[in-house]
Amino acid sequence: MTKLIVVDRQGAESEVQASEGMSVMEAIRDNGFDELLALCGGCCSCATCHVYVDPAFASALPAMGEDENDLLDSSDHRNETSRLSCQLILGAGMDGLKVTIAPED
Ligand code: FES
Repeated sequence: MTKLIVVDRQGAESEVQASEGMSVMEAIRDNGFDELLALCGGCCSCATCHVYVDPAFASALPAMGEDENDLLDSSDHRNETSRLSCQLILGAGMDGLKVTIAPED
């Protein structure tokens, strides 16, 4: 299991457990965070799974694809730590990953 720290839009931190191989979006959604809409179900076409990732984990993250980058460009809230959580598959080096749910666009 992998530990994930999720910060919601009110700033409250929660620790959740997830399995390697699942996406950060699935881990957040399956633990009852309704504010992460994930409307497209993880197929990288909605950008409603936008999170900010703790920069300490930047090197452990999978590379950003072109589609993800384009979708994030459509957000008014993009910053240098922005990722789409459905594109972050939990794997080695990601235990303790901290993500903050981005504001709604
Ligand atoms: S869930 Fe739609 S882009 Fe991630």
